[in-house]
Amino acid sequence: MTQKHPDYPKSRAEAFHNLVAEDEGRAGGMVEKYRRFVVGERGLGFLFLYEILTLAGGLPGAAGFAARRVCYRPLLGSQGRGTIFGRNLTLRHPKKIALGSNVVLDDNVVLDAKGSENHGIVLEDNVLVSRNSIVSCKEGDVRIGPSAKIGINCLIHSESRVEIGAGALVSAYCYILAGGNHRFDRMDLPISEQESYLKGGVAIGEEAWLGAGVTVLDGVTIGRGAVIGAGAVVRESVPDFAIAAGVPARIIRMREEEPGP
Ligand SMILES: CC(C)(COP(=O)(O)OP(=O)(O)OC[C@H]1O[C@@H](n2cnc3c(N)ncnc32)[C@H](O)[C@@H]1OP(=O)(O)O)[C@@H](O)C(=O)NCCC(=O)NCCS
Repeated sequence: MTQKHPDYPKSRAEAFHNLVAEDEGRAGGMVEKYRRFVVGERGLGFLFLYEILTLAGGLPGAAGFAARRVCYRPLLGSQGRGTIFGRNLTLRHPKKIALGSNVVLDDNVVLDAKGSENHGIVLEDNVLVSRNSIVSCKEGDVRIGPSAKIGINCLIHSESRVEIGAGALVSAYCYILAGGNHRFDRMDLPISEQESYLKGGVAIGEEAWLGAGVTVLDGVTIGRGAVIGAGAVVRESVPDFAIAAGVPARIIRMREEEPGP
């Protein structure tokens, strides 16, 4: 049977996990726990506002789009002009979410800026986050540059920092993981209870293209204009304008202009 070791060193991620667990013991019961989880360290008045305004989340049709644009504005850190909010969005710790102009969030997108000391999520002008994609912070930050596109069913997870450059294209089913590395050197503890560690976050250069189903691990920088083949697992940085593919990803060639006729 596995034993718990209360003196085992705590990483930032584990500390976060414990923070959630310790919430059990904090005053105020379920409502307080829900408030801290969903809107962060903000007052009950803000929670009440959140509960009322997010009722617009499931409204169908054009009326729903119009209602969400009005209702989400007071909840968010900032919201530019022309933002489009699909149905059934999840916005957690919304005051740490900043949206530029003409940002599009398609149906079922999750933007979760949770953390006690992080800055949260910034989506700059003309960013598209497609259906079912999740941008999730666990004490980390995420910035997506102007006109970058995130395909359907992607996960962007940040325990430190994720930067996606202007005009980058992230195809469907990509995982971008800044964190999430557990140690597993002890056999007497479940891996989920062992220390996790960070490798410095993920940066994806301007106008880079990640094919479908790419996984980018913590500590990786993908260069400007680089191409990553479908299904690759990227564990080492890729230079500007390189084409890399495979598991683990290796450079197959460099991009170059086709010679003219
Ligand atoms: C990476 C990619 C752009 C390369 O295209 P390309 O330049 O035409 O490359 P080629 O087809 O000539 O292949 C070159 C070599 O790389 C290999 N390769 C290409 N794509 C690969 C991939 N995704 N995984 C593993 N190896 C790959 C080929 O097998 C070939 O190897 P070989 O020289 O040993 O035969 C393309 O294969 C790809 O993966 N595109 C992603 C498409 C996508 O996901 N779109 C999502 C919608 S936006």
